[in-house]
Amino acid sequence: MIDLTGKVAIVTGAARGLGKGIADKLANLGAHVVVSDLNQEGADRTVSQIIERGGNAEVNLCDVSNEEEARRLIEQTVEKHGKLDILVNNAGINRDTMLHKMTHNEWDAVIGVNLTGVFNTMQPASFIMREQENGRIVNISSASWLGNIGQANYAAAKAGVVGITKTAARELGRKNVTVNAICPGFIDTDMTRGVPENVWDLMISKIPMGRAGKPEDVANCIAYLVSDQASYINGEVINVGGGMVL
Ligand code: NAI
Repeated sequence: MIDLTGKVAIVTGAARGLGKGIADKLANLGAHVVVSDLNQEGADRTVSQIIERGGNAEVNLCDVSNEEEARRLIEQTVEKHGKLDILVNNAGINRDTMLHKMTHNEWDAVIGVNLTGVFNTMQPASFIMREQENGRIVNISSASWLGNIGQANYAAAKAGVVGITKTAARELGRKNVTVNAICPGFIDTDMTRGVPENVWDLMISKIPMGRAGKPEDVANCIAYLVSDQASYINGEVINVGGGMVL
């Protein structure tokens, strides 16, 4: 049984989708969850639902692509709670288009949130976790890090997330901090609901389990990775995709 009672966790991009599922799960297991997002209304909803169920959570709005805002998120959490046990870097966007049509704006936006955003929170968090000699970081990459048509910006950012994860795992391992990445396959969220129906059907046809994943499928894996039971799992890149990538 996983018990996160007394743990302080930050989940970015937790107003909806995967991030909301992760925040719900960590709170259900006893963690105090700092729900961070750009979207105030969604973040408020995530927190009030957690509190209605008897859990502990608070909102701290932050644009992860902004260095100062990300630093403030980490520092305010530590000032308020005295520590940071768990950081889940989930916030992400897509601006899909073929490489020959991709603009610099589309490139910069996706790299800024999906890769620089991960650096922006990990840098101050790693400073804190080194001093604590304790911590868990889980970064959300994607099955697309291996390359996917129409996602040059997204795939490059998500491959970068694998790189920073493995590097941080090497740097922080001695300090009792683990850093792992999850590669969700095709999960039913607002992001994937945006794809055309024929693309949805094509994606499902590539999944041995024959269905899209649910946010809880990803959240369950993260709950394990941040628990005491996973204290020797470090630097791993774990697919949660019903066998989509084998
Ligand atoms: P979503 O679009 O439903 O939710 C993303 C959340 O991140 C939103 O609440 C949004 O407001 C927030 N966000 C966006 N930009 C932000 C910023 N600059 N700062 C803070 N928050 C920001 O997306 P979904 O599907 O829940 O994806 C979550 C993560 O999982 C993303 O990193 C995505 O790339 C990744 N992923 C999703 C997959 C899927 O099938 N849904 C597959 C593989 C990876």
